Amino acid sequence: MTSQSTPSRLGIIVSSARPNRIADVVSQWVRESVPAEVTIDLIDLAEVALPAFDGSAAPKSGVAPESDHHRAWAERIDALDAAVIVTPQYNGAYPGALKNAIDYLYAEWSRLPVLLVGYGWMDASEVLAHLEPLMRRLDADVVDAIGLGFGEDLSPQGELSIRAEKAEALTAGLAALRERLPVSV
Ligand SMILES: Cc1cc2nc3c(=O)[nH]c(=O)nc-3n(C[C@H](O)[C@H](O)[C@H](O)COP(=O)(O)O)c2cc1C
Repeated sequence: MTSQSTPSRLGIIVSSARPNRIADVVSQWVRESVPAEVTIDLIDLAEVALPAFDGSAAPKSGVAPESDHHRAWAERIDALDAAVIVTPQYNGAYPGALKNAIDYLYAEWSRLPVLLVGYGWMDASEVLAHLEPLMRRLDADVVDAIGLGFGEDLSPQGELSIRAEKAEALTAGLAALRERLPVSV
């Protein structure tokens, strides 16, 4: 969405759907670095609760959404100027809820500026190694992929001890998203 009269709209996508997730701590860390003039849409995939993809055609084919949940999801992502995808590392990849939410759309991801923030062991390198090419395949404009490591940046219980380089990467990543946002007046 590009408008010169509305504030820029940044989606923060929370990809874990577990009740006792640490995703909220990581999402809040991201949120605190977002400038106040940016409108945030906190997109909790547990609340969005999409069923397993049920469209009759691949979204890349351009077919219009056929269900209310598909239409609402498409409209929500289409309303964004940029997004941060916050994701845990599950079995060396992304949670199924995130992949399912991504699979629902194509045009809405295309050219969308996106910053990826993963967390897990080994600096979440495995999930980012899957998610970054997936988003590029959908033609998203991936500005960076930041991996927070258990034992380095946070504990498995969600206590933050973010390294300076990771905090700087977040600041730089959000700045890169802002460079791509429409100018507000
Ligand atoms: C199904 C499942 C698979 C997991 N696999 C991995 C893994 O491959 N690598 C890793 O670093 N952590 C793994 N973990 C540990 C998660 O990183 C950890 O539970 C983290 O808190 C998940 O984020 P969440 O609490 O926001 O859901 C796994 C956790 C779950 C629930």
